Amino acid sequence: MSTEDRATQVVVIGAGVMGSAIAQVLATAGCHVVCCDRSTDQLAAAARLVVHGRYGWERAVERAKLSAADATAARLRLTFADDLAAVASADVVVEAIPEDLAAKMALFAEVGGRAADAVVLASNTSGLPVVALAAAAGRPSRLLGWHWSSPAQVMSLAEIVRTELTDDDAIATVTELAVRCGKHPVLVRENPQAWGFVANRVLRAAIREARLVEAEGVASAADIDAIMVGAFGWPVGPLSVLEGASEGWGDDRGGSVSTLLG
Ligand SMILES: NC(=O)c1ccc[n+]([C@@H]2O[C@H](COP(=O)([O-])OP(=O)(O)OC[C@H]3O[C@@H](n4cnc5c(N)ncnc54)[C@H](O)[C@@H]3O)[C@@H](O)[C@H]2O)c1
Repeated sequence: MSTEDRATQVVVIGAGVMGSAIAQVLATAGCHVVCCDRSTDQLAAAARLVVHGRYGWERAVERAKLSAADATAARLRLTFADDLAAVASADVVVEAIPEDLAAKMALFAEVGGRAADAVVLASNTSGLPVVALAAAAGRPSRLLGWHWSSPAQVMSLAEIVRTELTDDDAIATVTELAVRCGKHPVLVRENPQAWGFVANRVLRAAIREARLVEAEGVASAADIDAIMVGAFGWPVGPLSVLEGASEGWGDDRGGSVSTLLG
């Protein structure tokens, strides 16, 4: 069965660690995707990564995760742009710019002014108040959190964050899209008084405790990580996870986010 669905036009804003990977996953799932970034260097890096990166299409074909024909088709569905013109015809917009509330609010104000009435807006924020982003967009019922885990090509969680005002049909649209991407959607409610949703709040507590354990001299950082990997099957330990979040997980890129967990 073809995964092609010409009706779903997605704009991903931000072509960094997360945005480039999210755009790749959505294109692989059959969406027509425009990945936007104001940095042309970043766009060029993203275009390279989605093909040649550690989790890019080339290696997916080598590892028989994807046929060469499907990889080519996905590649053709993904384009890059240094402006937001594509927002006007988007069904879904996924924002993945740095974790800065003022920057995200300014971006969503612009997106809200450009997008169609029926658009669904999603933010990949790690923990900023979704309700504030929704207000900035001027569409309090049409914006929700769609928190991806890194690397987005690999990790299965789609943490979908609703506010008190989010429309059920916006949630249904994103949930269905996440399933098409091969993800496991879990719907959570936002608590705007707390930083983060579920994944990062619980992870943050683990990192805090791991740092305390290290400071007490109970075990080295490497041993703490090894213990959590060995004991609970974590893919990486709590003290290594931040490095991957900011640098990307490949051997092929640098990143700029150091604020994932604040
Ligand atoms: N890195 C992770 O592991 C991870 C995981 C989950 C969620 N997140 C969240 O995802 C978001 C993006 O994180 P990242 O690690 O991909 O950041 P990044 O710094 O790698 O990429 C952000 C990109 O956004 C671009 N950008 C900035 N302002 C822009 C604007 N106004 N218009 C268009 N492009 C703009 C930058 O040029 C950059 O390429 C953040 O909110 C972060 O908290 C990150």
